[in-house]
Amino acid sequence: KIIKYPTLPSTNTKAKELLLSGVREGVLLADKQTAGRGRLGRSFFSENGLFTSIILAPDQISFAPSFLTSAVAVAVCRTLREMGFAIGIKWVNDLYLEGKKVCGILTEAVMNGNEILGYVVGIGINLDGAKFPEELAEIATAIPFPCEKKEELLWNILQNLDIVLHESTDSLVGYLTENSVVKGVLTLCP
Ligand code: BTN
Repeated sequence: KIIKYPTLPSTNTKAKELLLSGVREGVLLADKQTAGRGRLGRSFFSENGLFTSIILAPDQISFAPSFLTSAVAVAVCRTLREMGFAIGIKWVNDLYLEGKKVCGILTEAVMNGNEILGYVVGIGINLDGAKFPEELAEIATAIPFPCEKKEELLWNILQNLDIVLHESTDSLVGYLTENSVVKGVLTLCP
């Protein structure tokens, strides 16, 4: 089920609130974010693109939670490559096109004490028409895919996510290695 919002501060923040209020699965999609979040407390430019958060229950993940971001990167990379875009993965949570970042992934666990209530998988993909501020223009770019068709893109990602969640870690590591833009180094968390 996809819940759509015209604007949210952050789909990840909203998804975490939903998890804490008892929701255990669902997909959030916002046209725009006013406070999109990235890793390490960074902000994520969120004006023209696919901004989504997927809520996963703990039993939907068969590998170590620390591997979830990498697995999601495989799902998104496969989707975009199947659509004809020459995407590469910059470990651990970025996807690149022609040397510039087009996608960031932020996965978060939601806890109640020691209990894991679930995971939030946040994906932000810059799409056609994204106008980056000067400080980002040199390092970020957009996939030449129309923003109006972002739900189609999301469905394709969800299908590939379903596949990676049932895939072996060896197979995912193989894909990460083959499609990495950083050659020679692939450090994996346990
Ligand atoms: C990064 O580049 O460090 C990760 C960026 C993740 C951005 C996505 S957009 C949808 C979801 N909501 C957020 O606030 N962040 C993630």
